[in-house]
Amino acid sequence: MEKILVLDFGGQYNQLIARRVRDDHVYAEILPYTVSLETIKNGGYRGIIFTGGPNSVYDESSPHYDPAILSLGVPVLGICYGCQLIAWMAGGEVKTAPVSEYGKIAIKTAGESELFADVPESSVVWMSHTDYVSGVPEGFRVTAVTDDCPCAAMENEKRGLYAVQFHPEVTHTEYGQKILHNFLYRICGCSGDWVMDDFIERTVSALREKIGDKRVVLGLSGGVDSSVAAGLLSRAVGRQLTCVFVDQGLMRKYEGDNVERTFTQLFDMNFVRVNCRDHFLKCLSGVTDPEEKRKIIGTEFYKVFWAEIKRLGEGGFFAQGTIYPDCIESGKGDADVIKTHHNRVKLPDDVKFDGVIEPLSELFKDEVRIVGEKLGIPRELVWRQPFPGPGLGVRIIGEVTAEKIRILQDADAIFREEMASTGYESNLAQFFAVLPGVRSVGVMGDHRTYENLIVLRAVTTDDFMTADWARIPYDLLARVSNRITNEVSGVNRVVYDITSKPPATVEWE
Ligand code: XMP
Repeated sequence: MEKILVLDFGGQYNQLIARRVRDDHVYAEILPYTVSLETIKNGGYRGIIFTGGPNSVYDESSPHYDPAILSLGVPVLGICYGCQLIAWMAGGEVKTAPVSEYGKIAIKTAGESELFADVPESSVVWMSHTDYVSGVPEGFRVTAVTDDCPCAAMENEKRGLYAVQFHPEVTHTEYGQKILHNFLYRICGCSGDWVMDDFIERTVSALREKIGDKRVVLGLSGGVDSSVAAGLLSRAVGRQLTCVFVDQGLMRKYEGDNVERTFTQLFDMNFVRVNCRDHFLKCLSGVTDPEEKRKIIGTEFYKVFWAEIKRLGEGGFFAQGTIYPDCIESGKGDADVIKTHHNRVKLPDDVKFDGVIEPLSELFKDEVRIVGEKLGIPRELVWRQPFPGPGLGVRIIGEVTAEKIRILQDADAIFREEMASTGYESNLAQFFAVLPGVRSVGVMGDHRTYENLIVLRAVTTDDFMTADWARIPYDLLARVSNRITNEVSGVNRVVYDITSKPPATVEWE
């Protein structure tokens, strides 16, 4: 398989670069700049991309790399800091400009360049830099300029070295995808063999070979990643796979049944559902502190899960839905060079397996979804919005009780139904109902009521670090409110949360 290395110098767009490359059907792998030259030499890469980074190349503590990387005979594309790094490594000159160049900037290409093939002479790019290449290294020539930047791009075609001061990976760069495409196909000679159908075939046969006639156990959460991992494993080994689904009773209305129906009817596997709502309610009884609730739900979940796994017997493989971003080592300074594996479960000492299988560890989330659709997993599961691990436990403010779960599930289901039937859900990153534990006075017929308040929350966001409250049309909100107050007993008032993040968070707890 053709591979491109994205060498991470700590830039904020490193994953985006890899995703853009993969969107163009070439497999990209991210490694931190601390990786050895030997590893890179042996990696069989068709090309290397240096990412941006927050530093100045003249700062001793900045991430640098062995200049020998430029002489491996593998084409290199440097982006932003990566561009300055190439200049620095190859003996050019980098200076700090009196003012930063930031935002959408017009560039002009200069002369013929494979990198800019089919890119108009004038176009708009995204810039974000203060340092710039003031003197191109020997053997290089400038291939693009802006009004303020004498070297917006440079190259040494003979050595296969290319550098751009701007960010081709962000959509603000008009011809960014084209420029990356030129690097991959015209310069690195890739043919584009990263296609999801091939991935499924290749993975299924590799799984068959690895698993042999042993059994595999997978924890199914109802989320996208574990569901797609289950689909792949089922296709590979059928009933050698046992999926364990712990239903703590804190999922959305009908969600547990939907997960069970999907995996028992559409896939060949052993499906074990552990219903333990009452156990969780008992553990949560009297608990009101949000962090305490999170802790209890997390701890009890794994207790129940491992008890079930042990009951199923020893040996075979343990599978997880870990995806690529969970496995990437960061290039953000030595102190941060750690593996992030928040989606990886630590196996307890007393549970023995022959090995761990992570069939999605090469994939980004969007790719996982494509694989899921190709495997025939229903769209609502593949495109499921994020749902917190502690489930409705953090959407019921204060103590969690069976009655509160019922009210919240019913109200939330109506909100979801209306958003789905009108198609409005495609505008939203996440939306749900919250039960804040507030009662207020109302009137029904001739009676005064004193019932629950439901909060509707809906946000738009790309990354969930910041979020804006969604401008849902009033008529739609009115319909949801009417239905909730009419159909959910115990609710007499509905409000809409119009706070962005920050200062608020998406969830209420
Ligand atoms: P906040 O509330 O922090 O949420 O703005 C950002 C995103 O994270 C999800 N979230 C959680 N997910 N366990 C999870 O697995 C949690 O405890 C948790 N808290 C928040 C939230 O749903 C949103 O998508």
